[in-house]
Amino acid sequence: MLAQVAELSTTDLTPLIGTRVRIDTETLLSGTVAKEIRALLEQRGVLVFPQIKLNDEQQNAFTRTLGTQAYENNGMADAQGNKQTIFKVSLDSKVNPIGEYFRTSFFWHLDGPLHEVPILASILSAKHIPSNGAATEFCNTYAAYDALPESDKNAIENLKVVHANWALQRYVNPEPSYAQFRQMKDVVAERTQPLVWKHRSGRKSLVLGATAAYVIGMNPTESWDLLVRLRDWATQPRFVYRHDWTNGDTVMWDNTGTLHRAIPYAADSGRLLHRTILQGEEAFA
Ligand SMILES: [Fe+2]
Repeated sequence: MLAQVAELSTTDLTPLIGTRVRIDTETLLSGTVAKEIRALLEQRGVLVFPQIKLNDEQQNAFTRTLGTQAYENNGMADAQGNKQTIFKVSLDSKVNPIGEYFRTSFFWHLDGPLHEVPILASILSAKHIPSNGAATEFCNTYAAYDALPESDKNAIENLKVVHANWALQRYVNPEPSYAQFRQMKDVVAERTQPLVWKHRSGRKSLVLGATAAYVIGMNPTESWDLLVRLRDWATQPRFVYRHDWTNGDTVMWDNTGTLHRAIPYAADSGRLLHRTILQGEEAFA
């Protein structure tokens, strides 16, 4: 479908998730279409600006047209005392000090499930893409919830899930030493989140992902059975958009209604994306 929204020329990339937006950089940075972009993002989950080639300054400016830009690294200052608005997404520890930790991004997740208010959206710009493309996949957790049978919706309506850093870390280190486990456990406290996020808008989305440790009130087998079944459901092809990167692409996603994962790539592949984030505006509960 090709549509005109103000100055936006848009093409849906799949029926349920992902829209390509053609716009000139000047109009994008002016903020005149910010309201339309926010609305489209909430509707479509992922927006793609092919080869728009934003530099860091332009990416920051675009981010600020959409809401409150949050600092990266949880707002911590670097060695020079500066807070960062651009985060270098890379597995290479020479580029990204927590590169090794980023192997957790190969598994379906949303950003910030251990916070009360997760970030609203992330914006990624491709700076160096290796020849294998190193895609990113997104799934629409609003659409996945909407398509569930009524019996499932009723059964999961009020369930609560404990999210934990150790659950995520076990995907990349399945047999940690006790010292490692203590470290995984102590990084960030666990947090209980609803399985179904009832948004202010009235829409509902599923809160899933690799940080989901267990469902409160279920034994481990029942709990894992439900979480795996729902993740499988939410990530079936009809709810997924896969972005095969080209240098210069900018892609943004609604972190409150999607999950995402990077397709595995090697730490020395040179893959580099620059990320900016928008402060969250709505708590899970
Ligand atoms: Fe992420």
